[in-house]
Amino acid sequence: MELGILYKMLACLFDLDGVIVDTAKYHFLAWKRLASAWNFDLTEEQNEHLKGVSRTESLEIILKLAHHTLSKEAFEEALQIKNEWFLDFVNEMNENEILEGVTDFLHLLKQNKIVFSLASSSKNAKNILQKIGLFEQFDAIVDGNDIINSKPDPEIFEKAAKKLNTDTKKCIVFEDAVAGVEAGKRAGMKVIGIGDKEVLKEADIVVKNLKELTIKDLENLLSK
Ligand code: BG6
Ligand code: MG
Repeated sequence: MELGILYKMLACLFDLDGVIVDTAKYHFLAWKRLASAWNFDLTEEQNEHLKGVSRTESLEIILKLAHHTLSKEAFEEALQIKNEWFLDFVNEMNENEILEGVTDFLHLLKQNKIVFSLASSSKNAKNILQKIGLFEQFDAIVDGNDIINSKPDPEIFEKAAKKLNTDTKKCIVFEDAVAGVEAGKRAGMKVIGIGDKEVLKEADIVVKNLKELTIKDLENLLSK
């Protein structure tokens, strides 16, 4: 098959936090601060279960871990406070927080006419993309405001594929979260894990950052 045709059929779907930009640490710091009010010390290991998961579900998980309960009102208030703390970090962000290899990789995709979408559970995704100057780069954006079921449900990736007018089988997902890898696999897509092989066991391949990837790697992965 002619390479150019294959590229046109290929689409890339990117998670945001921990893949495009280093906001995963800010979510962690904000949750940790919130949990400390209940004398609960949220660990990095526990935080892995929060990655990719919606704000509401994250709080439910933390409360369970902390053996703590909140009234409906206090729950809503906690969500709001956490988001305010998170946004304090976001407001200070600029393009320097784009993760290693991302800008060049997106450029490479554009050069090869490969379309790509954002597929993030975050309701702050558009704001963050604007802060780091990448908003205009994406062919489509699906975020936490567009979905009913958050990762590991495949809904977000299915919606992104639809927005790009691409077959799910031609999509490659980029994820740093266990829940996100599962969502991509359940959508019938190939998944590239960004991070630790021991954590992202279900991904088709795992790399430390996008710097390590070539167009040939994407092509090989899709033909597997
Ligand atoms: C995901 C993050 O991208 O978005 C989660 O990995 C976060 O940690 C989720 O909870 C929801 O984000 P937000 O910005 O809507 O609170
Ligand atoms: Mg992520």
